Amino acid sequence: YLPPTSISEVSHVKTMDQYKEMYKQSVEEPGKFWGKIAETFYFKKQHEGEFFDYNLDIRKGEVYIRCLSDATTNICYNCLDRNVKSGHGDTIAFYWEGNDPMDSTSITYKKLLDEVCKFSNVLKSLGVKKGDRVAIYMPMILELVVAMLACARIGAVHSIVFGGFSAEALSSRILDAKCDVLVTADGVYRGTKLIDLKSIADEALELCTKDGHSVSACVVVKHITANSVLQNVSAFFTMSWNKAVDRSWEDLMQSASNECEPEWMNSEDPLFILYTSGSTGIPKGVLHHVSGYMLYAATTHKYTFDYHCGEVYFCTADIGWITGHTYITYGPLLNCATSVMFEGTPLFPDASRYWAIVDKYKVSKFYTAPTAIRSLMKYGEEPIRKYSRSSLKVLGTVGEPINPEAWLFYHKVIGNESCSIVDTFWQTETGGHVLTPFPGCTPTKPGSATFPFFGIVPAILSDEGVEIEGPGEGYLVFKQPWPGMMRTVFGDHKRFERTYFTKFPGYYVPGDGCKRDEDGYIWITGRIDDMINVSGHLLSTAEVESSLIEHPQVAEAAVVSKPHSVKGECLYCFVTVLQGSEFNKELVKELKEKVRHHIGAFSTPDYIQNAPGLPKTRSGKIMRRVLRNVAKGNRDLGDVSTMADASVVEVLFQNRVE
Ligand code: PRX
Repeated sequence: YLPPTSISEVSHVKTMDQYKEMYKQSVEEPGKFWGKIAETFYFKKQHEGEFFDYNLDIRKGEVYIRCLSDATTNICYNCLDRNVKSGHGDTIAFYWEGNDPMDSTSITYKKLLDEVCKFSNVLKSLGVKKGDRVAIYMPMILELVVAMLACARIGAVHSIVFGGFSAEALSSRILDAKCDVLVTADGVYRGTKLIDLKSIADEALELCTKDGHSVSACVVVKHITANSVLQNVSAFFTMSWNKAVDRSWEDLMQSASNECEPEWMNSEDPLFILYTSGSTGIPKGVLHHVSGYMLYAATTHKYTFDYHCGEVYFCTADIGWITGHTYITYGPLLNCATSVMFEGTPLFPDASRYWAIVDKYKVSKFYTAPTAIRSLMKYGEEPIRKYSRSSLKVLGTVGEPINPEAWLFYHKVIGNESCSIVDTFWQTETGGHVLTPFPGCTPTKPGSATFPFFGIVPAILSDEGVEIEGPGEGYLVFKQPWPGMMRTVFGDHKRFERTYFTKFPGYYVPGDGCKRDEDGYIWITGRIDDMINVSGHLLSTAEVESSLIEHPQVAEAAVVSKPHSVKGECLYCFVTVLQGSEFNKELVKELKEKVRHHIGAFSTPDYIQNAPGLPKTRSGKIMRRVLRNVAKGNRDLGDVSTMADASVVEVLFQNRVE
């Protein structure tokens, strides 16, 4: 599919030749390419010397990546002060759209700067200093953006935990990063469901204290209890209050000054931690640093969405995930964009909600996940056609492979065949897009993330680690660093090296398989490890298994993925109960609850089946390939000659749950 000429004509990159030329410079002379982009930002102290300093080859010593390493800057200053100083104080930074369609507001750059300065002073008054970690567990409200930018302003490292995570998951993240302060809210409505965030936060803090770490303060925003649209809520919602640590956001802000000199940070000082599932089951604290992330967030946002000043941009992600960090907060603000920030869900009050918002704010750049598109497809075209959507120009997707059917629905129905579709491949670790079409020039193929972004040098490796030239399939790897790539795992640099740089020394290994077709297009084929992508959320099978075996009646558990028409993939669990225990409906319910409790509601398994025995090799390794086939009901098992006891498989097929 060719980009519409109306988009090409005005886009930052109009032709493939222009893309190729810019791409060539970005990989052959990265210092020159990124150095020029850096000139558009404010650095307190300019950088001298080479742009990059790095070693990706573990055989040559420690892996490290640094860029602009002697410069100083502040990302919050570049997001806010710089735009206000250039005359954009009255530009809308965010249109905030509440869960309830009657509930909305907006904030200008100037007002956002004021609020951020105030909260920066609040954090300081609570004793937070440069380098300290602040946990944020909040719904999609403007105070979340204020809290994260305030951390960035004073040099504190924010660690945002998605509001759908359980108390246990929140506490383990607070503990790992030894956060001093937690910022949260009373609660939030998602559709008709009320989520009592404060009580989850209370439980998490109790768990932390039991483990020997207490936060010094828990700042609570009154969101639903002080909301005039949701007045009836406060009548029955009671919030617990622990005088020793709980502090009211509103009270603290009232007396705070709106002036706060930013902390001038070294380029390679940490900016934020964001936890992502690890294949060993323990989440990894991915650490991003100030300048490289700043340049990459801004540049990818500008080119991938072909963002132009004055346009309205809408990313439906939650800021609790990397997509929200880079493409709701940092990227758009660095480009002085006007964004829509949405608190609710695509199905409330009905399946037209996104398009009602698009028409209300005249959104031209829209970014969502394949799982959202698939869930809307179920309602047909009518809820979409009801709205004009005529302002739309670029439609992006992220988080999981998009099936061609969903891609075509996005293009034909949602985009009216007059938008560019950008399927963006990237990860928490990459900071921003690494494979993506450019909306003004890249001819697209449904299901392909097409070509590399500027500065990205992908390769495909065989099992033996040999680069495959031309068409072929294998492991996706990257050969050069780029500014936005993660620098380390918080507190565990060895794990960083082991996870991403050891399998194929000399390359960054993201953990995805891919193929290249005869035209050079890259197609992501899915994870090569034991991670499962449920609705765009990566889950580690090991983490789910460890929740299941915590149950006193469970002897062993193995979790695999099963294709799912909306979620993309879902969890299918095989559970062996202890001798004398019974596998029944009650147990299934308890096990689902265990996983919810351990991780969060979004990780609830769809299937749990009785497995009197698991297929294993003679050396005792569980044969997941066989289990995946059982889950799918596919009796074509391939080579099973290494299986210790083949009779278990028939029993598994008999016990299969549909
Ligand atoms: O497997 C890839 C898949 O999501 C993983 C990254 O997950 P996470 O760190 O949670 O970040 C998600 C948002 C960037 C990748 O390793 N993935 C992400 N985008 C795509 C994708 N798979 C295929 N196509 C995509 N566009």
